[in-house]
Amino acid sequence: MRMIAPSILSADFSRLGEEIKALDRAGADLIHIDVMDGHFVPNLTIGPGVVKALRPHTKLLFDVHLMISEPERYIDNFVAAGADILTVHQESGPHLHRLLQMIKAHDIKAGVSLNPATPAVMLEDIIGEVDLVLVMTVNPGFGGQQMIPAALNKIARIKELAGTREKPLLIEVDGGIKVETIACAEAAGADIFVAGSAVFSSKDYAGNIQALKKAGA
Ligand code: DX5
Ligand code: ZN
Repeated sequence: MRMIAPSILSADFSRLGEEIKALDRAGADLIHIDVMDGHFVPNLTIGPGVVKALRPHTKLLFDVHLMISEPERYIDNFVAAGADILTVHQESGPHLHRLLQMIKAHDIKAGVSLNPATPAVMLEDIIGEVDLVLVMTVNPGFGGQQMIPAALNKIARIKELAGTREKPLLIEVDGGIKVETIACAEAAGADIFVAGSAVFSSKDYAGNIQALKKAGA
């Protein structure tokens, strides 16, 4: 079964608590929270204070996607705020191993995200430390962009790198996921599908999530 992680980047920011409750009622599997710093990506969004304020509104897992430089400065804050999965970008700095150890020390899931231009091989020597790989199918920074389908090709290679280890490796895709594209992303091997504009395109969040779950399946 496809897991759908609505991105609250496309939600009404003036009513985020209610939006999260509505996503929960609508059948979301995870809540995807896009954190941007205006430096790693050219946009600014949400900090740990907002994540903490949202935490009491749902029991769904918070899937926090850090599109920030120097993520090591904020890992503890996002964990304290209630992140269940914390994903850093491979491109965010030179010490990915250290970042993953910092996240895992808190006993939560550690993810690594790859920009469209970053090849799977960058994970070769670290894959054993990773719980989730977030494959960007757009250049990060904004919702509502068109999927770059070639970015899906690296999923097969990531799975090869992971080999037959006991601990399952989750593959999540992010960017341009909609009814027309989700089946391709699933065929490429993804387990979790982030969707911002597709979920928030109309008030019928439940209908939109169901449509994504069923499309081309
Ligand atoms: C992009 C973000 C995505 C984005 C997805 O930088 O990481 O999570 O919100 O939005 P859609 O689904 O509209 O492409
Ligand atoms: Zn994201």
